[in-house]
Amino acid sequence: MNVTTEKKQLLKALGIEYWHKPEVNVPADELAAPVTTQTPVDALSIEQLRERVAHCERCELHCSRTQTVFGVGALDADVMFVGEAPGQQEDLKGEPFVGPAGQLLDKMLASIELSRQTVFIANVLKCRPPFNRDPSAEEVALCTAYLDRQIGFIKPKLIVALGRIAAHYLLQTTTSLANLRGTVHTYHATGTPLLVTYHPAYLLRTPADKRKAYQDLLQIKSMITQDD
Ligand code: URA
Repeated sequence: MNVTTEKKQLLKALGIEYWHKPEVNVPADELAAPVTTQTPVDALSIEQLRERVAHCERCELHCSRTQTVFGVGALDADVMFVGEAPGQQEDLKGEPFVGPAGQLLDKMLASIELSRQTVFIANVLKCRPPFNRDPSAEEVALCTAYLDRQIGFIKPKLIVALGRIAAHYLLQTTTSLANLRGTVHTYHATGTPLLVTYHPAYLLRTPADKRKAYQDLLQIKSMITQDD
């Protein structure tokens, strides 16, 4: 066993997830408080959160995933888009919305002069449910501390829920998507303004609703530009 492996095992036994060799300029409070598996999610930095998510075994989805899908985009984004859960291609690539629904999402963003580099895109679940089934209530309950922390860290000015699963979690409601569209809601944990629109996968199946989705996009655009 080499020294590094031995050290890692010792740290693991102490409940320490990872340990950065202290640099001269590391703040004293970081030295005093190493990140452990017990550190609450809402106290993690974004990089610590990424690491926590990557090793998450909170629910059974960790057994079937290829990798976790953390999210992509600007950490200081004004707008955050929240989808449901990774699909097959996202599970393989480790990035949200890279399959056919993602290509449509890219076009939706471009139609209002946004891109996956200027917004932040995340999902309710960080792991793919097998056969792309809906997330279970238990999976949502176990996973959403990660999404809550992402939102808390990024502090977007606007959140856009893509589809029913994201809308229902973020608003803590079971109201139909049709009734949620067109109104400015607030995210239950922080009061951040929130709009609801169709999930791009739904729009691929129901292209007649793309017109309504475009109305939602214009509302997003108008809310972001009002803020400037
Ligand atoms: N559908 C989602 O909700 N999220 C993805 O990342 C891909 C497809």
